[in-house]
Amino acid sequence: MAYTHLFSDIDLGPFSINNRLIMGSMHTGLEESPKHFSRLAAFFRQRAEGGAGLIITGGVSPSEAGRAMPGGAALLTQEDAQTHEVIPQAVHEVGGRICLQLLHTGRYGFHPNVISATDAQAPISPFKPKALSDEEIEAEIQSFANAARLAEAAGYDGVEIMGSEGYFLNQFTSPALNDRNDQWGGSADNRQRIALRVTEAVKAAVSEKFLIIYRISLLDLVPEGTPWVEVEQLAHRLIAAGVHVLNSGIGWHESRVPTIASMVPGAAFRAATARLRDAVDVPVAVTNRINMPDQADALIADGTADLVTMARPWLADAAWGRKAEAGASDDINTCIGCNQACLDHVFEGKPVSCLVNPYALHEDKFPRHRANQTQYVAVIGGGVGGLSAAVELAERGHHVALYEQQSRLGGQFLLAARVPGKEDYAHTLRYFEHRLAELDVRVHLNTRAEVDDLVQAGVDQVVLASGVTARVPELPGIDHAMVVRYDQLLRGDVAPGQRIAVMGAGGIGFDVSEFLLHVDAPVQETEAFLSHWGIDATGEAPGGLTRPKGQHADREITLCQRSTTKPGKKLGKTTGWIHRLQLRNGGVQHLTGISYSHVDDQGLWYDDANGERHCLSVDQVVLCTGQESELSLADELAQAGLPVTRIGGADKAAELDAKRAIRQGVELAVALSH
Ligand SMILES: Cc1cc2nc3c(=O)[nH]c(=O)nc-3n(C[C@H](O)[C@H](O)[C@H](O)COP(=O)(O)OP(=O)(O)OC[C@H]3O[C@@H](n4cnc5c(N)ncnc54)[C@H](O)[C@@H]3O)c2cc1C
Ligand SMILES: Cc1cc2nc3c(=O)[nH]c(=O)nc-3n(C[C@H](O)[C@H](O)[C@H](O)COP(=O)(O)O)c2cc1C
Ligand code: SF4
Repeated sequence: MAYTHLFSDIDLGPFSINNRLIMGSMHTGLEESPKHFSRLAAFFRQRAEGGAGLIITGGVSPSEAGRAMPGGAALLTQEDAQTHEVIPQAVHEVGGRICLQLLHTGRYGFHPNVISATDAQAPISPFKPKALSDEEIEAEIQSFANAARLAEAAGYDGVEIMGSEGYFLNQFTSPALNDRNDQWGGSADNRQRIALRVTEAVKAAVSEKFLIIYRISLLDLVPEGTPWVEVEQLAHRLIAAGVHVLNSGIGWHESRVPTIASMVPGAAFRAATARLRDAVDVPVAVTNRINMPDQADALIADGTADLVTMARPWLADAAWGRKAEAGASDDINTCIGCNQACLDHVFEGKPVSCLVNPYALHEDKFPRHRANQTQYVAVIGGGVGGLSAAVELAERGHHVALYEQQSRLGGQFLLAARVPGKEDYAHTLRYFEHRLAELDVRVHLNTRAEVDDLVQAGVDQVVLASGVTARVPELPGIDHAMVVRYDQLLRGDVAPGQRIAVMGAGGIGFDVSEFLLHVDAPVQETEAFLSHWGIDATGEAPGGLTRPKGQHADREITLCQRSTTKPGKKLGKTTGWIHRLQLRNGGVQHLTGISYSHVDDQGLWYDDANGERHCLSVDQVVLCTGQESELSLADELAQAGLPVTRIGGADKAAELDAKRAIRQGVELAVALSH
């Protein structure tokens, strides 16, 4: 299939590019030190070769105060600019284009010297900002001009001025925050002044051939956010001040609605971009959760936007554009929106990578050369660990046989993809299955690997990727008919009850609760998602927020845990709050700090923290009480003297750890391919 709309030229003003694909800005953790710039250069070069028409770097501060953290990336001096030169150079060598993002964090900075329009502290920050004086505002404006000049000197093709997501400029332009009563606050004209002055100063500092993009907040998604009339007004003024392209910004970091997590439908906020595009005459880019070519092409074809900005999909697959252009969608390793190895890593202070593509930003760690000595490798288990190992081994020239006892590949990930909001997880399985076919891996479905057969076949190595099985606790009444395992429920082997106790509030307990909440009334279609969370993507409501419709399930669901910690404490840093909110809005009850006693016809009996016994009157108990490594073959394999490597759940039973399983598949293939 040819995606003719996506792969057509577009004139951006200072220059043209030959497709409509922007790789969106992502802070990777490597911007902080020039010693990592050669790695960054290689990362961007690969994406330019892979078909990104225009790349935008992660955010770099134009001033000291605008740094994201102490020592956070900043472009302040000629010396700084020189260290950047390798990056645009690498991209230009392969015919690509790259802009530097100028991101001043304002009150979102994680350091004590943060500044903003007012001294109102961000709800997600421990630091109170200093409200700037006239003179100080002028200095920050000049810092943008200085950084843009330096970016051009370093060889970048342009800058993106970050004006959204609740950062510094957005802290001035939005009425949600800026109640100053001087020339920088109060009326829309005054609040927008700094954005226009920054743009004018940047324009004056650079040459005509230098591209200026502004990332404009279309939907602040905070109470009292920017009304649409002001969004349009600002856009027109920015264009008059010299902006060539407008990129969409959706939501602030402190917004209490999901904007990029896996449950956000593809391009869910496109109505706002389409509205802006109708109102202006410069190219406009649409963004957020666009991950497949048909979807991206349709957004250009139907006039939503002129350009498609994708960020994480370029982590998941460096060659996204090249594959899309060739019509090879099935070849694309698709971003599933999990945030587990990208945004979560940023907030954990770890370098960014990708759950489905461990190579991302670690290309040097995992050499791809073919094995000098090819081996016959049996991979036992077709979950994501086994799939990753089989593909990676075959890519390096090994002969691989993959055994899966079920009729389908996917293991626990098949169950994950049944959870409302995790449907995209099926893309990972589609990708692996496609690669297995391309690489001619022998896949034996409905086949439990037997050690004798492996010995007879003469395998050199065994990868034990047999995963996990659900742990069933020892409890009187555990074999009662009302007790079911999470896998039985998710697979559809048993129907959901009406009054349900979910035993175990880890990641799977949360997923099972969401499944029970939404299985009869899905909220994954865009309209349902928007009304569920109270989002007006047309921007008619100020800041794009309306009254959430919410959803109370007909079922009574109680999520139970033995520990006294906050339920969902171990969920992902950037997504845990969404799951907690989702269950709260859905009326899910929590029971914490309890010890389970027994199950009988009346329900689940437990003792509370004071040792008092209670009965939770339910008609179904779902076990989400952990998992155990499936190692039934391990001893036999050892006795047969076969070299065995365990990966994924078979190595360590941890609830939501596809990231480790997939990475171990890569590591193993590298280790066997010297
Ligand atoms: C509801 C749910 C949601 C999840 N969500 C996430 C998430 O958001 N993020 C995340 O990181 N992880 C998530 N996970 C966990 C993730 O799916 C697992 O970490 C991952 O699947 C582990 O992969 P694996 O290949 O090691 O094992 P498994 O997925 O358990 O696969 C093992 C496979 O081996 C097969 N097998 C076993 N023994 C044999 C044998 N002798 N012969 C042949 N075949 C055999 C099994 O049938 C199975 O298909 C979720 C899991 C569930 C259940
Ligand atoms: C790891 C990571 C870092 C990010 N850093 C930035 C940044 O520095 N500047 C910015 O404007 N947006 C940043 N974003 C947001 C992305 O540009 C983008 O808006 C978001 O990921 C949604 O688009 P996607 O679904 O295509 O990934 C970051 C996102 C991620 C995942
Ligand atoms: S870690 Fe998850 S969200 Fe991040 S790029 Fe990879 S698949 Fe996408």
